[in-house]
Amino acid sequence: VTGTARTCLVTGASRGIGEAVARTLSDAGHRVALTGRDEEALHKVAAGLPGPALTYAGDLTLGSTVDDLFTHVEAAWGPVEILVANAGIAHSAPLEKTSDEMWEEHLAVNLTAPFRCLRRALPGMRAAGFGRVVVTASVASKTGAPYVCAYTAAKHGVLGLVRSAAAELAGTGVTVNALCPGYVDTGITDAAAATVARATGSDEETARQRLAGLQPLRRLLRPEEVAAMVPPLLENESINGQGIVLDGGGVQS
Ligand SMILES: NC(=O)c1ccc[n+]([C@@H]2O[C@H](COP(=O)([O-])OP(=O)(O)OC[C@H]3O[C@@H](n4cnc5c(N)ncnc54)[C@H](OP(=O)(O)O)[C@@H]3O)[C@@H](O)[C@H]2O)c1
Repeated sequence: VTGTARTCLVTGASRGIGEAVARTLSDAGHRVALTGRDEEALHKVAAGLPGPALTYAGDLTLGSTVDDLFTHVEAAWGPVEILVANAGIAHSAPLEKTSDEMWEEHLAVNLTAPFRCLRRALPGMRAAGFGRVVVTASVASKTGAPYVCAYTAAKHGVLGLVRSAAAELAGTGVTVNALCPGYVDTGITDAAAATVARATGSDEETARQRLAGLQPLRRLLRPEEVAAMVPPLLENESINGQGIVLDGGGVQS
C-alpha cells in the first residue's frame, strides 16, 4: 500500500492503542475514520492528525452502530480498505464473581463487534480485490491467566474469527491478522493496576510496577510499539491469519 492513500477505519481510536494506530496510518498518508463513544476525545485525536480524518461516535455493542458507521465512512470516502478493529474492554474478576452482564459485555465489545465490522467491510474489500483487516487481540488470545475469564474467552474467540476469515479469504487480496500484545501503557492497564491495588492493599503505582514486572521486558509496552506493527501487515499479503504476539518473548505460539 506504499504510496497509495487508502480509506482506513480504526475502532477504539479515542485513546490508547487505537489513537496510536490512527496516527501511524495518518502519518503514512491514509484517510482515517475514527470511532469510539467519546465524541469530544475523537475530535481531539482527529484534530491532531496530519491528514484527512473523520469521526463517528457510537457504541459498537448496539447492532445498528456498525452499519451506520460504515455507511457514514462510505458516504465521505468510499469503501473501507483498511479496518483496524481495536476497540476493547478488560475487566477482571474471579470466575465465580463474573456476572452474566460482565461476560456478555466482553463478548459484545471484544468479539461480536469485530465480527460485525469485518462482515460489513468485506463486500467492499472483495469488490476491490484488496483489503486489510487488523484486530487488536491480546496475549490472552493464546494463553490463560487468572481473574480474566470473560476477557480471555472473548480474545481467544476473536483470534478464532481472524484465523477462519483468513482461511476463507486467502487469495482474494484481503488479509486478516491479529496483534496480540502483553500489557500496554493505556487506560486498560491503569484500570488493571487499580484493581490489583484494591485487591492487594498496595498503591496504584506499586501495582503498575508489579504488572510491568510480570512482562518479559520488565516494562509496559508503549501504544506506538503496537501501532508500528500495523504497516507491515498492510504491505505484505503473505501474512494472513496470524496472531502476532508483542510481549518481548513470553508467549511463543
Ligand atoms: N492495554 C493493554 O494492556 C492491552 C493488552 C492487550 C490487548 N489490548 C487490547 O487493545 C485494544 C485497545 O485497548 P487500549 O489498551 O488502547 O484501551 P483503552 O485506552 O481503554 O481504549 C479502548 C478503546 O475502545 C473504545 N471502546 C470501548 N468500548 C467501546 C464500545 N462499547 N463501543 C465503541 N468503542 C468502545 C474506547 O472508546 P470510548 O470509551 O470512547 O468508547 C477506546 O477508544 C483492546 O481491544 C484491548 O483489549 C490492550
